[in-house]
Amino acid sequence: MESFVFEYPTKVYFGQGAAKQYLCKELEQYGNTVLLAYGGGSIKRNGVYEEIFNILREAGKTVVEFSGIMPNPTYAKVQEGAELARNHGVDLILAVGGGSVIDCCKIAALQAKTNEDVWEAELIEKRFPKCSPIPLGAVVTVSGTGSEMNAGGVITNEEKKMKTGLFAIAPRFAVLDPTYTMSVPFPQVMSGAFDTLSHAMETYFGYPNGDNVSDDINEAVMKSVIRNMRILLKDPNNATARSNLMWDSAMAENGLLKLGKKTDFQAHMIEHQLGAYTDCNHGMGLAVIHPVYYRHIVKEGLPKFVRFAENVWEIPKGSKAEIQLALAGIDALAAFIAECGLPSRLSELKVKTPITDRILEEAAYSTAIQPNSYKKLTYGEIYEILKECM
Ligand code: NZQ
Ligand code: ZN
Repeated sequence: MESFVFEYPTKVYFGQGAAKQYLCKELEQYGNTVLLAYGGGSIKRNGVYEEIFNILREAGKTVVEFSGIMPNPTYAKVQEGAELARNHGVDLILAVGGGSVIDCCKIAALQAKTNEDVWEAELIEKRFPKCSPIPLGAVVTVSGTGSEMNAGGVITNEEKKMKTGLFAIAPRFAVLDPTYTMSVPFPQVMSGAFDTLSHAMETYFGYPNGDNVSDDINEAVMKSVIRNMRILLKDPNNATARSNLMWDSAMAENGLLKLGKKTDFQAHMIEHQLGAYTDCNHGMGLAVIHPVYYRHIVKEGLPKFVRFAENVWEIPKGSKAEIQLALAGIDALAAFIAECGLPSRLSELKVKTPITDRILEEAAYSTAIQPNSYKKLTYGEIYEILKECM
């Protein structure tokens, strides 16, 4: 393990009925005005809006609504939320949705408290704006990103053609009720669960490779995600599997698996730039990129890819030469992606903007290259990877 400092900021209320049981009491800690933020309307159709709204009323709160947060939220939407929060003197932002709603609210919570442009401050000037964000709470309705337990928000800047992570504030509390995810369309359930697996893999494939607690826990999380996704393939509404996947999602991105480790996240950086140029679905984009990317770096990360094959995909130890074992593990991952009905090629993605060679090139040459990957890629290699993904 490398050295680390660890502190946990988010209180989690997990389980069926968690909002009804705990939210009203939790809300006592905050001022009167709450910004109730949500996406395109799924929460109005599945009853979650009504339930949360009634709890807010019961707690005596004045509710200001911030709606229409789109998947892959834009920086313009962040500004809209910040302005609403500022104009109404909001005391708490309550994000009800998935990664997109929570991420947009994290950055709006920060932007609302400063006249500085937070994008410029963090990404160009490389410093955190001098202010404290508005407190944030999250009610998760679709799991996968783990955004409910970390401080990062992934935002698309349409003008700059960049989708990237900014840092603001971790939710003070998060309500994780697996029954809220029951209405999520099945392809999105699988996409979210694959995102969780991706977070675990992006953390596992990083130094140190040797014996460490984080990698041992990570293997358990990866196996849990795979097992529960397989259960959902047979029984899509299986409550135990939904519940396990919801906690796997939080576990993979709440920082615990990263303790004492360097991480990769190169596949994420490539997918994010595809998301800057198209409306690529996050988990589905990752499903396409991972096996192709891993075949590019397998030699540099050989010992860990062998361990991945043996411990995660249960390919018998020593049954093949090391490189064959490592490749068999990546093949098992690719076969699992197909088994789950996730796309294996970018050409299979349902996107509004067709993915042209020009888009691949621009996305590749604007991707953030990760310093701690087993193999530090060049822009040219990323372009080759993306072309292979087609
Ligand atoms: O907008 P509504 O109508 O609510 O519909 C949403 C959306 O269309 C729908 N949905 C959500 N809950 C539902 C539901 N539909 C029916 N029933 C429900 N209960 O699901 C669709 C996808 O929602 P979204 O929030 O976009 O999905 P996800 O949670 O996968 O978030 C993706 C975003 O998170 C970022 C991604 O890049 C992407 O922008 N990420 C954030 C991370 C973080 N902050 O830690 C890490 C991730 O790696 C990721 O980059
Ligand atoms: Zn992700």
